[in-house]
Amino acid sequence: MKKIMRRAACGVLATAMLWFLSACGNETEPVQTPEAPLSTPQDTVQLPPQTADTTVYHDQQKILIAYFSLWENAPWDEDTDANTSASVVVDGDSAVGTTAYVARMIQEAAGGDLHPIVAAEPYPADFQAVVDTNHSESSREISDTVENMDQYDTVFIGYPVWATTLPQAVRTFLTSYDFSGKTVIPFCTHDGYGAGRSFSNVAELAAGSTPRDGLVLAATEAPEAREAVESWLDELGLNSTTPAEETAIRITVEGQSLESILYDSPMAAEFLAQLPQTITMSNYGGREVYGGIDIAITPVEEGQYRFDNGDITYCPANNTAAIFYAQTDRPNLTMEVYPIGRVTSDLRIFPDLPSRVDITFER
Ligand SMILES: Cc1cc2nc3c(=O)[nH]c(=O)nc-3n(C[C@H](O)[C@H](O)[C@H](O)COP(=O)(O)O)c2cc1C
Repeated sequence: MKKIMRRAACGVLATAMLWFLSACGNETEPVQTPEAPLSTPQDTVQLPPQTADTTVYHDQQKILIAYFSLWENAPWDEDTDANTSASVVVDGDSAVGTTAYVARMIQEAAGGDLHPIVAAEPYPADFQAVVDTNHSESSREISDTVENMDQYDTVFIGYPVWATTLPQAVRTFLTSYDFSGKTVIPFCTHDGYGAGRSFSNVAELAAGSTPRDGLVLAATEAPEAREAVESWLDELGLNSTTPAEETAIRITVEGQSLESILYDSPMAAEFLAQLPQTITMSNYGGREVYGGIDIAITPVEEGQYRFDNGDITYCPANNTAAIFYAQTDRPNLTMEVYPIGRVTSDLRIFPDLPSRVDITFER
């Protein structure tokens, strides 16, 4: 569904922004000070409900999208409307913090669990007071907790750039968990001065993690950033809206060619590397043909004890490949199999094959 959005009072902000030098720690950094406020009337906007868990796996990756957004960390009430400078994306009657909005776009394309980073003490409603608070503070406690961080392989970290680096709450988040062995991917929004030092700060704080290329978006770009987000996720191999690349193969049996594909997976790649290969296969149980292959394939994660018609599978227990062609009244398998591809042609040739038959697999 296409949304109609606008960034609240972005025109005002664009013309009114001033940057002052501000010390954070021992360093000298610019801090944003808009001359005129952004206005987000509380009676016309409300925080959208939390998006449900849409966990998906990419090659068995489990994804967390943790983000910090000022909108969810400051008391926006009616009194503050006139003077606040909330940075939000307005969509109809609801508003979302800029970084939160991008986080949700990432979730829509990559799946995963969304996790808002919440400061234990909210920031002031007045924008200049937020700037001053950030300027003077050297840490900020957070009240949120990720349940079982161990389960995540890939963690996106999203934040607004504050004084050319991370808000303190994001620093606290990054030092609260063990990220070693995880892939950590930053994304940020800003008002024109880029990511600053924030990406290297994320890499330093998420010690032991594998950093990947981050996404930098000017806040004004956020409402229309879907394409940029998706092409970035494509490069990371994490865009689940892009169909995985499949490799077409031909299976020849008794002079008949069957169109088939192998999946974009490490196990399928190992099988593909062995092609062309002619396998002497047994026609078994009115449901499958199976036969030993040349080189054993290394199993990745867990297999399954069920099948769908057309599945091409690998069984590590006896180093066989199989093509399942008919469900039987006993669909459950006694040995674990791993789907590596699928026959996309008609399967009707299989039931009438002899009990042993040579079947050729080739690219
Ligand atoms: C305390 C503070 C410091 C900021 N510092 C910068 C900065 O150094 N560079 C920049 O381009 N924008 C800066 N901004 C603007 C925010 O990064 C930008 O508005 C961001 O998109 C807000 O995202 P949010 O709505 O998710 O909080 C700052 C904003 C605040 C509140």
